Formats: sequence, C-alpha cells, structure tokens
Amino acid sequence: MRLALFGHGAMGRLVEARARDAGDEIGLVVTSRDAARAGAEIAGDLRGHDAAIDFSVAPAVPRNVEACARANVPLVEGTTGWSARAEDVRRVVADHDGALVFGANFSVGVQIFYRVVARAAGLFAAVEGYEPFVEEAHHSRKRDAPSGTALVLRDIVAARLGDKAISVASTRAGHIPGTHRVGFDSAADQITLTHAARSREGFAAGALLAARWVQGRRGVYEFSEVFDEIVAGGKKE
Ligand SMILES: NC(=O)c1ccc[n+]([C@@H]2O[C@H](COP(=O)([O-])OP(=O)(O)OC[C@H]3O[C@@H](n4cnc5c(N)ncnc54)[C@H](OP(=O)(O)O)[C@@H]3O)[C@@H](O)[C@H]2O)c1
Repeated sequence: MRLALFGHGAMGRLVEARARDAGDEIGLVVTSRDAARAGAEIAGDLRGHDAAIDFSVAPAVPRNVEACARANVPLVEGTTGWSARAEDVRRVVADHDGALVFGANFSVGVQIFYRVVARAAGLFAAVEGYEPFVEEAHHSRKRDAPSGTALVLRDIVAARLGDKAISVASTRAGHIPGTHRVGFDSAADQITLTHAARSREGFAAGALLAARWVQGRRGVYEFSEVFDEIVAGGKKE
C-alpha cells in the first residue's frame, strides 16, 4: 500500500516503521506544520494513496476526515478525544461516499479485553451488591482524559448494569503506554480485570490491519467490527 500519515509523533513514527517493514510505502506526512491548511487543499496531495492513517490531535480530525473523503482515500482514524464531532465526521464521510475505520484502541488484546469485560458485566448483572468502576493510566503527554478506551469500557459495563453509576478515574504520569482496569466491588470482595499495554506496537499493528481491511469498502466502521470480521471469524459478543 501507499500510505499517507496524519501525525508523525510517537504513533505516526511507529506506524511508518511497521508499514515499511511490511513493504508498504509512505507518501504524504501531515504534521503541526500543516495546521493552517484546509481539507480541500490536503485532498489534492492525497490522490494516489491507498489509505491514510491518523494519529494526530483531536482538533485536526474533522479536517483530516474531510481531506480523505474528498480525495476518496480510506482513512484509519486512531486519534482520540473527538467524539463531540462524531456526527459531523460521519456526515462528511457519507456526503463523499468515503470510507473510515475509527477506534479508541487498535490493540487486538484490548478488543479481546472488551469482550471479556462484557461477559463479566453480564455475570455481575445477575447478582446483587456489586458496584463497577473503571480506572486508566497513561503517559503524561496524553491530552484527553478519561481515555477513549475507558469510555468504551464504561459503556460496555453500563449496557449490562444500566442503573448503576460508574466511576471512571484517570492517571497521567511518566511513560505508561496504557493500562485499563475494570473492577466490581462488593461488601464481601473485589474482582478486577486489567489490560496493560507493554508498548505501542499493538496499536500500530491494528491500525495497519484496518488499513488493509478497509480497501475497497465504503462507510464508517468501528474497529470492533473489523476485529469481529477478520480476527474472531464474524462472532459477536
Ligand atoms: N486508537 C489507538 O489505538 C491509539 C493508540 C495510541 C494513541 N492514540 C491517540 O493518537 C493520538 C496521537 O498520539 P501520539 O502519542 O502519537 O501523539 P504525539 O506523539 O504527540 O504526536 C502527535 C502528532 O500530531 C501532529 N499534529 C499536531 N497538530 C496537528 C495538526 N493540526 N494536523 C496534523 N498533525 C498535527 C504532531 O505534529 P508535530 O510532529 O509537528 O508536533 C505530531 O506529529 C492521540 O490522540 C492519542 O490519544 C490512539
């Protein structure tokens, strides 16, 4: 594939390295230097790319989505913190008949963790006395809090334990690549489920997987759907 990158920081550089390892080619790279450029202008530079991968900053996401939709280049959207603009983003993709895969977490391990948590929450829903909570910790450069992954975990638990308020706590310190914990606490005991990323490698691998999967497709997909289809053989929780 010939790939364009939005963002060339910790994630963008890793995606570039893994893409090159796989024999893919990197074309356009958009960074903070391009902050003032409009989507229509960037669309011109995107032609001839097979896909784009975005790990940049939330305020740039609507512009990046517009550029890819106008250029008819499928986009893998890894940036977090733009959920308030989700409707606009969907509309732009639909208006241009484009393709977008988005996800708060492109790690395959986290996709499995989501399904483990859903199963656990379903079990706790059947008994009295357990209160759920979510905790997450990331490196101090991460801008959004709680993490997008923590919000997905909260929603997974809330869908099964709907009437209980769910506390979500965030820590920002040092170089933590990303830890998420879901707990169920009762007077008698506490049960916790933890996913701890060791590095960013899993995110880069999942984003590249999504870039291959989205070739020839139209529409907006969440990475969970990609996972269901290509990793879990179409089985949904
Ligand atoms: N979905 C997932 O699995 C996942 C995993 C990890 C991280 N993330 C998310 O990915 C995003 C990036 O994380 P990171 O750790 O790579 O951050 P980072 O190291 O700070 O890199 C951010 C990059 O965005 C660029 N940038 C800033 N403003 C821009 C603009 N207006 N247009 C285009 N690019 C711009 C920066 O440019 P300069 O190089 O010029 O500074 C930099 O290259 C965050 O939202 C993070 O939460 C998602």
